[in-house]
Amino acid sequence: MRKIADNIYSVGAIDWDRRLFDELIPLPDGTSYNSYLIKGQEKTVLIDTVDPEKTEILIDNLVSAGVTKIDYIVAHHGEQDHSGSINDVLLLYPDAKVVANEKCKKMLIDLLCLDESNFLTIKEGDTLSLGDRTLEFIDTPWVHWPETFSTYLQEDKILFPCDFFGSHLATSDIFVENESAIYGPAKRYYAEIMSPFRRQIRGNLKKLEKFNIEMIAPSHGPVYKNPKFIIDAYAKWASEDVKNYVMLPYVSMHDSTRKMVEYFSQSLMDRGVKVDVFNLTDVELGKLAMGLVDAATIVLASPTMLIGAHPSAGYAAFLVNALRPKTKFMSIIGSYGWGSKMVDQLTGMMSQVKAEIIEPVVTKGYPTEDDYAKLDELADAIVAKHKEASLM
Ligand code: FEO
Repeated sequence: MRKIADNIYSVGAIDWDRRLFDELIPLPDGTSYNSYLIKGQEKTVLIDTVDPEKTEILIDNLVSAGVTKIDYIVAHHGEQDHSGSINDVLLLYPDAKVVANEKCKKMLIDLLCLDESNFLTIKEGDTLSLGDRTLEFIDTPWVHWPETFSTYLQEDKILFPCDFFGSHLATSDIFVENESAIYGPAKRYYAEIMSPFRRQIRGNLKKLEKFNIEMIAPSHGPVYKNPKFIIDAYAKWASEDVKNYVMLPYVSMHDSTRKMVEYFSQSLMDRGVKVDVFNLTDVELGKLAMGLVDAATIVLASPTMLIGAHPSAGYAAFLVNALRPKTKFMSIIGSYGWGSKMVDQLTGMMSQVKAEIIEPVVTKGYPTEDDYAKLDELADAIVAKHKEASLM
């Protein structure tokens, strides 16, 4: 149990070893499941719990600190990495009420088999007194599930936003010590789970403007004593602004597509466009997702396999479609041996991305001088689009 302010403690768990979330999202730096204990004059509240794997740590922290009574467990979010220990906490503190909004309550009943009688249902703007301190509840939906709300501790000016503003980072630092070091993990986290909901996030940021926030204590990663840093970063990431930047994920079987990627990336660089080439046989999802936060253009490169796209390119297209990036322009380059439906297949797979398609370039076999000229034309077209969009 570690103090973050007077009578407010961090009682959650650091997960140094976890390397995958949702069996999908890489966690190169581990993560933490933050739970906070607020000891008010009259009432004691636990803010969120921890992943079921780490229940023992949370319970140990509470017991060894001599916590004999918990009146409320605020459950901001139904996902089990924060709610998964609620049943165990209730076994130890059976009189505690689970505080949740209507949507979150229904989810917790479905996911954890809790009973209606376990809950104190709140709604936006409600307050809950702990005696000398007051919790105020704010709906902050779609960060990244629809039910999520946040708690503002009025007297201490601390915001507890659960996943919102979090970062997957296992560290012994309770507070952010180095803002430039947390920027990457926080952006990666935003990119992987928050970015499809940027419109709703902008709404949530607007809603938070009226609160005087002096500290943000998220449920993953360290606590921000300078909230402006992460709020400003979110405002930038969640805006519709893009950069003069092309993402070029590719896979190649017999070098034709790789040769096109090599030529095309140089062609873009020669024209003053920033480009990142990602070999899809070796790239991890977090890097792709982070690129999508900024890229004005995505060009996906694939050979043809059994008439369609290479499955690795298909995976990238599926991922891009799921993350619905703000990317403004898209194209496809690649190759085939005797016939191909690769372009139609990949563009079909990215139908949720509201980007303008620029004429793809597909070669039969190894690229020829004509094909390189077409790649130069594609680079020219991208430069023209970026200039029209005032990106260069
Ligand atoms: Fe950290 Fe959406 O759970």
